[in-house]
Amino acid sequence: MKTHKVALIPGDGIGPEVIAEGIKVLDAVAAYDGGFSLEFTEFPWGCEHYLRTGEMMPADGIDTLSHFDAIFLGAVGYPGVPDHVSLRDLLLRIRHDFDEYVNVRPVRLLRGAPCPIKGVSQADVDMTFIRENSEGEYAGNGAWLYRGTSREVVIQDGVFSRYGTERVMRYAFELARSKHQSLTSISKGNALNYSMVFWDQIFDELSQEYADVETHSYLVDAASMLMVRDPARFQVVVASNLFGDILTDLGAAIAGGMGLAAGANLNPERVFPSMFEPVHGSAPDIAGRGIANPLATVWSASQLLDHLGHPQWGARLIDAIERLLVEAKTLTPDLGGTASTQRVGDAVVRLLAND
Ligand code: NAI
Ligand code: MG
Repeated sequence: MKTHKVALIPGDGIGPEVIAEGIKVLDAVAAYDGGFSLEFTEFPWGCEHYLRTGEMMPADGIDTLSHFDAIFLGAVGYPGVPDHVSLRDLLLRIRHDFDEYVNVRPVRLLRGAPCPIKGVSQADVDMTFIRENSEGEYAGNGAWLYRGTSREVVIQDGVFSRYGTERVMRYAFELARSKHQSLTSISKGNALNYSMVFWDQIFDELSQEYADVETHSYLVDAASMLMVRDPARFQVVVASNLFGDILTDLGAAIAGGMGLAAGANLNPERVFPSMFEPVHGSAPDIAGRGIANPLATVWSASQLLDHLGHPQWGARLIDAIERLLVEAKTLTPDLGGTASTQRVGDAVVRLLAND
């Protein structure tokens, strides 16, 4: 029997609460399937670990994780540890060192999910964001000169390589081709006269090569307006690290909220493990109360199952989430319900059993 080794990093705040339900659901899937098993190894890394040890993860953390088939992460970040430390030393480090250069974030309005835009049907909100995940505005390049003096200067550089830009766009073109969907590029070539002009140029070059794929290109400000006014225009979307991050929070808001937004950090060549996580953070405002919505984590578990070669289970998890939303009996407060995190996890398991 095939055993998949999955590293767990529950992290901080609501991270451990939602990951517990993700594990519950994944264990149920493996039991119902009977043809594969999942072996979980938990790592207590994150902000509490930082406060104890001065580091977000041990020095050999990346080496440790490299032996797993996938990583399942809750959220990191907590008051008392600067966000740029928690994000950069754990999450961005893993994405970077494992060359997880594709961040797949579905912005899809599931059956039964609330949409704040009037007159929008489920078919209108069905996007797949491909966010560049290894360089761009988050490359971490810059300087802080004359710190603390009146001459203080900061420089934050965006880094866009031909290699990095082309590979994420190729991934998006291939995906659009396989789904028979259009591909939209997000840009800001009018103001960012090096990085985004370069981005547009590479998108144009690849458009010639993928002549069968319908393409569009929007400036990021116009795109954020159009995503609300006319979301049906967007199918597969490719964006830089920063623009993709911002637009997918907007996407989460129109597709049911942060409690339903999932993301996969993929190393498509599978040289390194890929990482699956809900898009939301550690939500300190609701942590410890047992009311966090675990469905974003269940959706990430579905992406994890797709990646491990069990797409039929990936689809069945999405179907279970949809039935739960339509049934509307067992939902957390962010979706208008009164159920606890655990009860929602139990309900997903129950719906899987009734398939
Ligand atoms: P957040 O996503 O943690 O929370 C934003 C709002 O959405 C809060 O009102 C929260 O209660 C709500 N929310 C989020 N997830 C929810 C869920 N599953 N169910 C119900 N409600 C949910 O973002 P925020 O407040 O900006 O950041 C909090 C901390 O998380 C910070 O330290 C930040 O750096 C970190 N963060 C970590 C991320 C990660 O680990 N991938 C991503 C974003 C933020
Ligand atoms: Mg974000």
